[in-house]
Amino acid sequence: MYIYKAAVIGAGTMGAGIAQVITYSGLPVILRDVTQEAVDKGLATVRKIYQGRVDKGKMTATELEQKMALVSGATDDTGFSDVDIVIEAIYEDLEAKQKLFQTLEKVCPEGCIFASNTSSLPISAIASATQKPEKVIGMHFFNPAPVMKLVEVVPGLGTSEETIDDIVLFSESLRKIPIRVQECAGFLVNRLLMPYLNEAAIALQEGAASAKEIDAALVKLGMPMGPLTLFDMVGIDVSVKVADILHDAYGTRATAARILRELDQADRHGLKNGAGFYDYADEKKGDLESLIQKIQAEGAKKTEFSSNRIIMPMINEAVISLQEGVASAKDIDIAMMAGTGFPQDKGGPLHYADQIGLDVVLSELESLCEKLGDRFWPAPMLKRMVQGGYLGKKSGKGFFQY
Ligand code: 3HC
Repeated sequence: MYIYKAAVIGAGTMGAGIAQVITYSGLPVILRDVTQEAVDKGLATVRKIYQGRVDKGKMTATELEQKMALVSGATDDTGFSDVDIVIEAIYEDLEAKQKLFQTLEKVCPEGCIFASNTSSLPISAIASATQKPEKVIGMHFFNPAPVMKLVEVVPGLGTSEETIDDIVLFSESLRKIPIRVQECAGFLVNRLLMPYLNEAAIALQEGAASAKEIDAALVKLGMPMGPLTLFDMVGIDVSVKVADILHDAYGTRATAARILRELDQADRHGLKNGAGFYDYADEKKGDLESLIQKIQAEGAKKTEFSSNRIIMPMINEAVISLQEGVASAKDIDIAMMAGTGFPQDKGGPLHYADQIGLDVVLSELESLCEKLGDRFWPAPMLKRMVQGGYLGKKSGKGFFQY
């Protein structure tokens, strides 16, 4: 099915970013939210993204206006009778997403695809409330949507192959890299990213290093930004929700760092409201240090910092995901590079593990497990590979052949 017109529901950072991506490819899009104020804010965000390109000389002011003419704001169902795809990017609430698709099914054409940009809610559960689960699918963009190349394509239990193919082609037409991922909590990228981000937060609350030191160490390793800066960009409120969904699915290894909840309760939601792990506005909202002290006074033990402590949980979760068949080794690596900027020269977490040596990764995880707890428990597949002589590059075979 060719997509001629799209609608994006939710005009926040992600919704507006997705609308920009769609108009950039030349397609018309409706950007809908509940209030006119929210819609106007979303349209202003789209304009700002284009203005950035004009300022850099990558686009003319006339081209900007041509692109802006492709996006129309809405607070109701006007214009939905001929949309081919609806992408929802509203807040993470299962019932709200179910109700939204139920209502839109009544006004959208018969063949319309209902895609969810949910970070981690189950697509099958969203689809279960609709008349046509075969038309419901996860289409997960990454922040900032105009820049990050990845789209996770997540079929639910009832999604048809035709809908999957349509979303793969549509994502390619948006100049994105679609990777098909098996439905599971956090899908692929958030499932791997969160243990890494969370460990950085745990290291901080345990006084292992300062926020700046932690971020600097990971940037030195080649990550495009430090994990705590990334938390602030994604949003602490969003991250707490994702972390809770992961904990619910994967148990104690995914327990959210206490500091995340403290920041959330202190209304420090990250870049978007002026404060998170860092301060971005003149007006202060308490301070990070007192939250850390509170956690330490209540018993958090002092621990040591190392970059391995932060990166190993990502590698381990990559192996667990591979072992579960969430995606192939190649797709896992592509997804992490395209969705999070994992350094290209390391080739993704599994190529990186092969470079380090799987025996070294295993022994590092075992040592972290002993020092810091069971959340570092090595993936069974990793042990099996080491026992079988699959040590990575040095033995000519690991997750990949050399
Ligand atoms: N909107 C639009 N464009 C943006 C942007 C934004 N918010 N931020 C940066 N850009 C553009 C810049 O204009 C620039 O464009 P150009 O190449 O045409 O000049 C380009 O991106 C590079 O930007 P900068 O040079 O300013 O900055 P960096 O090179 O440091 O890159 C970054 C910024 C792309 C954000 C990089 O730091 C990065 O990749 N960070 C990791 C982001 C990440 O991990 N995202 C995933 C988060 S998880 C998620 O979203 C899932 C959700 O479910 C929670």
